[in-house]
Amino acid sequence: MNDQEAINAGDNPAIDKALSLENLASWTEEQFQQRFGQPPTWVAAAPGRVNLIGEHTDYNDGFVLPMAIDRYVVMAAAPSTESDSDRPVRVCSHGVDQTERLSPDIKDPAEVVPWARYVLGVMVGCHRRGMTYDPLDILVESTVPLGGGLSSSAALEVATATLLEAVTGKTMDSVEKALLCQKAEHEYAGMPCGIMDQFTSVMGLRDHLMLLDCRSRDVKLVRMDDADITVLIINTNVKHELTGGEYAERRSQCEAAAEKMGVASLRDATFDLLGETKEALEPVFQRRARHVIGEIERTTETVASIEAGDWARVGELMYASHDSLRDDYEVSCVELDLLVELAKKQGESGAVIGSRMTGGGFGGCTVSLVPSGDVESVARSIRAEYQRRTGIEPSIFTTRPAQGAHIVRG
Ligand code: GLA
Repeated sequence: MNDQEAINAGDNPAIDKALSLENLASWTEEQFQQRFGQPPTWVAAAPGRVNLIGEHTDYNDGFVLPMAIDRYVVMAAAPSTESDSDRPVRVCSHGVDQTERLSPDIKDPAEVVPWARYVLGVMVGCHRRGMTYDPLDILVESTVPLGGGLSSSAALEVATATLLEAVTGKTMDSVEKALLCQKAEHEYAGMPCGIMDQFTSVMGLRDHLMLLDCRSRDVKLVRMDDADITVLIINTNVKHELTGGEYAERRSQCEAAAEKMGVASLRDATFDLLGETKEALEPVFQRRARHVIGEIERTTETVASIEAGDWARVGELMYASHDSLRDDYEVSCVELDLLVELAKKQGESGAVIGSRMTGGGFGGCTVSLVPSGDVESVARSIRAEYQRRTGIEPSIFTTRPAQGAHIVRG
């Protein structure tokens, strides 16, 4: 048993537990048997992700530095015991206790419940590439927190694609698979996301961060297996997006800023160019561009610092990223700011290396790097203080960089 498993298995109320992938897969098989009266033929898993740094840079052709987390969506399937000719796929989500019937012929995603749209979008994409199959029963289980900014939706998409690979025996190239899943999210969930989440869920590698160049789509793996450093994820358990349109708005502001600066995307912009074109840019566009230009630099510098073992610098870069997301990109919120402030305070005595909001923002989670020996006390103290100040119980867990999507059985 490694440290992570010891923490997960121990009786420690400061840190939340979750089933290991192995146990989650067995549990899913049992639930499938109960729900459909036969064992599953195929089982597939895909993880959520956390982004260490490089936020809101993916759709600006920049760099991101995420890793897959030890929280998975697992899907089990078998040939259907009953067939409904119009909608040949029955998908049951055990967590929300709902069953939906799907068909790749459904044109309008609004015809199915929201969670099933991610599955439908991927089914349609696979169907278009000639991945066809007989009627199926599917059961979905998940340990990725829903709506917490840890890519539960990308994990569901990628798990679906991986399951359909197992069912049809046809495998996709990793980039093609990630892009198919991203397209499903754009077209069936109406979220114009970048490529980070799906790439990480497909390609994550145990004990590694992934430096992804979102322009060339090249991935550089960065080892992150130092047992003395633990990745701590704290969920504010709030979600503040008012309209759901904030993400799309940031994206179009970046595109407009790039256009005004005369570059193809903010990846090509520099602080010098920002200074020269200032007059032409409204303050809000200047702030958005400043965040993206700085964040891309911070991301590549973080990799160099990790490789040099300079964790103090990594911490500074994480705090600087948070400040920029709060002040220039304006996607943080009081709860995220409070968690980072509490972590920083612990950092004064060396108990936290760095901390920042992670994911799209407006709630969701922070990611912190913590010396492994301090994890328990840091988690305990932040949990108590956050709860005292907000009246909200946070969720807290640790993870190591986990393995990306794979077929568990079949
Ligand atoms: C969401 C999107 C990603 C990325 C992040 C912000 O998670 O799905 O593509 O843009 O926000 O970095």
